[in-house]
Amino acid sequence: MASVSFDNLDGYIWMNGEFVKWADAKIHVLSHGLHYASAVFEGERAYGGEIFKLTEHNTRLHESADILGFKIPYSVAEIDAACKELLQKQGFQDAYVRPIAWRGSEQMGISAQNNRINLAIAIWQWPSYFDAAQKLKGIRLDIAQYCRPDPRSVPSKSKAAGLYMICTISKHAAEAKGYDDAMMLDWRGQVAEATGANIFFVKDGKIHTPTPDCFLDGITRRTVIGLARDHGIEVIERAIQPEELEGFEQCFLTGTAAEVTPVSEIGPYRFEVGEITKNLLDVYSAAVQPKKVMAAE
Ligand SMILES: Cc1ncc(COP(=O)(O)O)c(C=O)c1O
Repeated sequence: MASVSFDNLDGYIWMNGEFVKWADAKIHVLSHGLHYASAVFEGERAYGGEIFKLTEHNTRLHESADILGFKIPYSVAEIDAACKELLQKQGFQDAYVRPIAWRGSEQMGISAQNNRINLAIAIWQWPSYFDAAQKLKGIRLDIAQYCRPDPRSVPSKSKAAGLYMICTISKHAAEAKGYDDAMMLDWRGQVAEATGANIFFVKDGKIHTPTPDCFLDGITRRTVIGLARDHGIEVIERAIQPEELEGFEQCFLTGTAAEVTPVSEIGPYRFEVGEITKNLLDVYSAAVQPKKVMAAE
C-alpha cells in the first residue's frame, strides 16, 4: 500500500448522504464518538467488484448501534446501496470497505441524548492484512496481557470502537516483541480470539474453535465453519483452555481483513501450516468471488 497518510488518499468518502472529497471528510474535535468512543463500525471486503456478505455486515452495523443505544438514520438497504455506489465511484474491484457511525458534537458529556448520528463510508485498497509472505508461512502470535472482558462488563456483541482499545494495546505490545499479532484469552482464562480476527485449531482431522460468548462471532468465522462442514470436516465450538494449545497441530485466524491466515506460533507453542488450513484458505478465497450467473441457453 502507498505510504500516503489515510487522511489524504484519492477519491471520495460517502458522508451523511453525500460524496465528499477524501481529504475534506472531516469532523469536529468535540465529537462524542472521539471522546467517549460512541462509535460502531464494519469491515467489509469487495472481491471482483462485489462486496462479500454486504447486507450481513450492514445489518450487524445497525445491531451494533442498537446495542450502544443509537439508531443509524439510514436503513440497511440504503447503506448497502451507498457502499455499492462508492465502490463504483472509487473504481476498485478488490477493496476494503469501512462504514462507521458515530455520535456528533451537539452535546458534550457522558449523556448524548441530543447528538446527531453520523454515518460515513470509506473504501480503499488493502490487499493483505498481514505481510503476504509471512501469511503463507504462518504468522506468529504473542499471548496478550489484556483479556476479552466479561459480557456483563462490555457490549461484546457490538463491533464498537471502544472495544478495540485493548486490541491496539495488545497488538502494539506483540509487535514490540517482534510478533505479528496477539492471541487474547477471555475473562475466565479461556482462549478467545486474536486482536482483530477469530481463532481456530486443528487436531486429528477435526476443527476446534472457541464458543463466541464474549467476543465477535465473525461473519468470516461462520462462513469458514459452513465451508468446513460442507467439506465433511467436523467443527467443534467449545471452551478451549490455553494448556490445550500444546496438543493442537494447526491453527488459523479468520476475519474480513485477515481472511484465512495460518498461524505458526503462539507464545511457546508451534503449529504446522497443514492441509486443512491450506484447503480452507483456498476454499474461502474461491467462496468470496462473485458468483457468475450462467447465461440461459
Ligand atoms: C476483534 C475481532 N474479532 C473477530 C473479527 C472477525 O469478524 P468478521 O469475520 O465479521 O470480519 C474481527 C473483524 O472484524 C474483529 O475485529
